[in-house]
Amino acid sequence: MVNQIIRKEELAPNIKLFEIDQPLIARKVQPGQFVVVRHNEKGERIPLTVADYDRDRGTITIIFQEVGKSTYEMGELNVGDTLLDVVGPLGQPSEIANYGTVVCIGGGVGIAPVYPITRALKAAGNHTIAIIGARTKELLFWEERFREIVHELYITTDDGSYGRKGFVSDELQRLIDDGYKIDRVWAIGPAIMMKVVCDVTRPHQIKTIVSLNPIMVDGTGMCGACRVEVGGETKFTCVDGPEFDGHLVDFDLLMKRQSIYKEQEKLALDLYLKHKGVK
Ligand code: NAD
Ligand code: FES
Repeated sequence: MVNQIIRKEELAPNIKLFEIDQPLIARKVQPGQFVVVRHNEKGERIPLTVADYDRDRGTITIIFQEVGKSTYEMGELNVGDTLLDVVGPLGQPSEIANYGTVVCIGGGVGIAPVYPITRALKAAGNHTIAIIGARTKELLFWEERFREIVHELYITTDDGSYGRKGFVSDELQRLIDDGYKIDRVWAIGPAIMMKVVCDVTRPHQIKTIVSLNPIMVDGTGMCGACRVEVGGETKFTCVDGPEFDGHLVDFDLLMKRQSIYKEQEKLALDLYLKHKGVK
């Protein structure tokens, strides 16, 4: 049945995976594109970059972090339940080509959306290096899946509980210092991580593609909620992006706009958790 959850996994605390029956999207989606999901009539519209797809099975995979009321509610759904709507594929696909040596970086939940891009870059003939990192070992997922599709894999944790201690950007700096000739970088994760990765690559003029995650409403270019500044121009992430040249992105503005509804989001979550008896 369309939009039915056919597989659910808890990848890490508060990080859930749904494989969804969605043959139409599965047939068309390309790496880098996203869907907007609503789990019920009152649910927020949640934009999620597609983490995987299977054209034969007619399914797409989404991975989300329970951070607010809607994502917590969605996380309670189980196999057999149906999402109210899944709209997509939206946004522009990643520009996949043979660049030479590429480094694909996933920070935290950003590990999921960088996966299909990494796989496509490898298939396009690139020497493909991945750096995946999380705050701590239990939040890291898909190490084995990445190992199967890359030439080199490096892992970091902020607290040193697994892999090398530090941020993913530190590992990229190490590769550059070690003399790697890198032709292109993809970085997906929290805005601050993408900003820092761009600071690392800018002096070396390594083109760096980032996938932005501003607040979105309609996801189709009509509401203006997702506007970002790129190279001094206003762009709509949902139709012009989500991927942009990171060296041109105004990350400070992005981060400021991302936190506009922080208080309301916290209030809604507190009320929800209180209602559930969690707090
Ligand atoms: P997090 O705060 O746990 O950070 C993940 C990793 O990013 C860290 O382990 C570290 O390696 C790196 N990082 C964090 N702060 C850094 C800094 N100051 N300098 C350098 N590197 C730093 O992330 P999380 O809680 O998993 O949150 C994931 C974020 O990614 C969310 O904000 C989510 O919206 C975003 N996201 C974006 C997309 C997208 O398509 N753009 C997709 C999924 C998630
Ligand atoms: Fe409304 Fe992009 S989400 S214009």
